[in-house]
Amino acid sequence: GWKMENVLDEEIRVIKDTVGPQEHVICALSGGVDSTVAATIIHKAIGDRLHCVFVDNGLLRYKERERVMETFEKDLHLPVTCIDASDQFLKALKGVTDPEMKRKIIGKEFICIFDSFAQDLELKLGIKPSYLVQGTLYPDVIESCPPPGSGRNHSHTIKSHHNVGGLPKDMKLKLIEPLKLLFKDEVRQLGRIMDVPEGFLKRHPFPGPGLAVRVLGDVTEDNALDILRQVDEIFIRSIKDAGLYDSIWQAFAVFLPIKSVGVQGDKRTHSHVVAIRAVTSQDGMTADWYNFEYKFLADLSTKICNSVPGVNRVVQDITSKPPSTIEWE
Ligand code: XMP
Repeated sequence: GWKMENVLDEEIRVIKDTVGPQEHVICALSGGVDSTVAATIIHKAIGDRLHCVFVDNGLLRYKERERVMETFEKDLHLPVTCIDASDQFLKALKGVTDPEMKRKIIGKEFICIFDSFAQDLELKLGIKPSYLVQGTLYPDVIESCPPPGSGRNHSHTIKSHHNVGGLPKDMKLKLIEPLKLLFKDEVRQLGRIMDVPEGFLKRHPFPGPGLAVRVLGDVTEDNALDILRQVDEIFIRSIKDAGLYDSIWQAFAVFLPIKSVGVQGDKRTHSHVVAIRAVTSQDGMTADWYNFEYKFLADLSTKICNSVPGVNRVVQDITSKPPSTIEWE
């Protein structure tokens, strides 16, 4: 079998051979495992000729920006520019309820920010990047080019909206994809030997459009993002405290744009309903809903209603994929 140390050495050698001594590389970090490991390899090969950007789109989880920036800086010493574009994204999303429309707007804003990041490098530092890093994995490669009769066409359609897709055609950047022959667990192993923290490598997947797919309806209404962040954090914290995080593929909360009547502290309330969802899965293509113990659920709903203003009801999603998808959108 392959030894991961050898794979890493080989990757570094290939990158050094590919990227000329004066050339620069840019990389958008999502905060996920793939882009982080990809950037870390490139950084080992070419040092500070790598320029990473992390965009806060206003749709991140509780303290996500602080958490990932700390990992990038303290643990990985990656050169990352953090751009706070939350106002820009949220302004563009105001009033939008259609899920596909939300995705389109987010994609467009992202490209706009990324483009101006590249332009800034040129204006301020006189650097004209030649390469763009993508954290493409082997399964993505197979899925974009399904063998005939493999039944993979369906998965392809599901995945098509997941990839960053539609990067500016006129950027003329060449792609570097250091993970394109690897499976996810191999990416984790590579991360491990480069000292990417274990907790980071085991994080649940998180969709590119962020909490926009977990707020049904207008993300700018009813304090939805703030409520969702609080509920989600309590849910994930509880899962970690119960030692369940690593047995679950993905767990998250969903903000529903409806209110229902409740009674809290002798007062009638008319507040929001949130849903919780946790699933097990091998690859995200199919999934089973996770069966928590009764006491876990009871404690969780109490904790959420007691500590998150604006929420008086918690429901659980008990649907597998198919027929549901993992995200609600
Ligand atoms: P669905 O909801 O289609 O999602 O069952 C399957 C897996 O993909 C994740 N997902 C995304 N990941 N960009 C991503 O990087 C996206 O736009 C996106 N949408 C869904 C989802 O969280 C689940 O793990």
